[in-house]
Amino acid sequence: MAQTKRATFGSKIGVVLATVGCAVGLGNIWRFPYMLGDNGGAAFLLVYIGCILFLGIPVMITEFFIGRYSHKNVAGAFKAIAPGTKWSIIGYNGVLAAFLILGYYSVVSGWTLEYIVQACGGSLAGKDASDFANEFTNFSTSVFRPILWTAVFIILTHVIIISGVKEGIERASKVMMPVLFLILIALCIRSLTLPGANEGLTFLFQPDFSKIDSSVVLSAMGQAFFSLSIGMGCLVTYASYFGKNTNLQTTALQVTILDTLVAVLAAVMIFPAVFNFGIEPTAGPELVFITLPNVFEQLPFGNIWSFVFFVLLALAALTSTISLHEVSTAYIHEEYHISRKKAAILVSIGVFIVGVICSLSMGIWSAYKIFGLNIFDFVDFVTAKIMLPFGGMMICIFVGKRIEKNLLREEVTNHGSIRFYFFNTYAFFVKYIAPILIGLIFLNETGLFRAIFN
Ligand code: PFF
Repeated sequence: MAQTKRATFGSKIGVVLATVGCAVGLGNIWRFPYMLGDNGGAAFLLVYIGCILFLGIPVMITEFFIGRYSHKNVAGAFKAIAPGTKWSIIGYNGVLAAFLILGYYSVVSGWTLEYIVQACGGSLAGKDASDFANEFTNFSTSVFRPILWTAVFIILTHVIIISGVKEGIERASKVMMPVLFLILIALCIRSLTLPGANEGLTFLFQPDFSKIDSSVVLSAMGQAFFSLSIGMGCLVTYASYFGKNTNLQTTALQVTILDTLVAVLAAVMIFPAVFNFGIEPTAGPELVFITLPNVFEQLPFGNIWSFVFFVLLALAALTSTISLHEVSTAYIHEEYHISRKKAAILVSIGVFIVGVICSLSMGIWSAYKIFGLNIFDFVDFVTAKIMLPFGGMMICIFVGKRIEKNLLREEVTNHGSIRFYFFNTYAFFVKYIAPILIGLIFLNETGLFRAIFN
């Protein structure tokens, strides 16, 4: 494929850390633990690992293939590989999904900043569970503060994006990801040294197979996709900055292992503490914003633990918001030939508007419903449960139908210079198995599965 002069990541470690940064986010530290709590603990973990191995890795390699082969943003990639066809809809779906996700993701990311400030000011101290629940509701439904923090988070993301691929994204990821790992390990050690730690670990690692049913399996698949950032072009966009020597297979393996490690460590950090204080592991999405501050405040130096935890959450969110921002920025910059800075400004303003709408829909605009959901939940539903599986499924169908097997083999083996032991199995999976499984996730997440099979 013809290659234009384009930014690339500068080093192998930069490639891995930037891509891990894209994958590791609120999905690992906020969504994974509560999904695990809701879906029976260890049994969910086992199924999740199966989904990562058999679905996550093959689809990730496939997205890497599209990005590195085309050297283009996600919309440009499909236009370049299949010019004049409708396949480019997959690319536009990715750009739109990343843009919308960034809108509500920035709101939740902004909440982490509010908690950091509160922990610093000592105002989390001396509260009980109902205080935390009331204050979270009051804060998240209010008008100004959530919008202010959303704006701050978008500005942080913007600054990194305009510094460029190597100087901005790669450099920031190289600093933030190791810090994130260190904080996570420190918090795990704290949690594991609590008296009730064993009960939490049993919940996490001793599977009760009777808990596995179709809904657990399908939720695990959906979570695997969200966590690995599959289906919306972030991985395609990042792979377009990979060098020609980047090993797509080992990169996918490393990113997947590290992403899963962070999710498991987040659970190890949370559940022993939750059990120690006799709190229900099935608290749901509020686990991180209501249950955990309550848990931390019962520990000695509670404010410090809260502070450290929310810094961890903010860092994880930031490495993901930059990847979501980059999808739209690269698209506008390359397809409309305007400077990267101007493209980034347009994206940031647009995302801020979506963020404001999402934030207000939790409070004063909560009466406006679309299909019974407020706007925040509706955007979350449409993107994570419809656009993302649609994107992932279409990417597999596209490569299975449109790309010659030899061309795929050439690209994923760096023109024969590295081995790919199970290439035929991989190609078969991507062409037939993955689209069917992703189709099932789609039916499950939209509620259609239950409607059809019950
Ligand atoms: N993988 C991110 C997380 O776990 O929080 C979320 C995400 C980022 C999803 C980027 C999709 C994406 F393109």
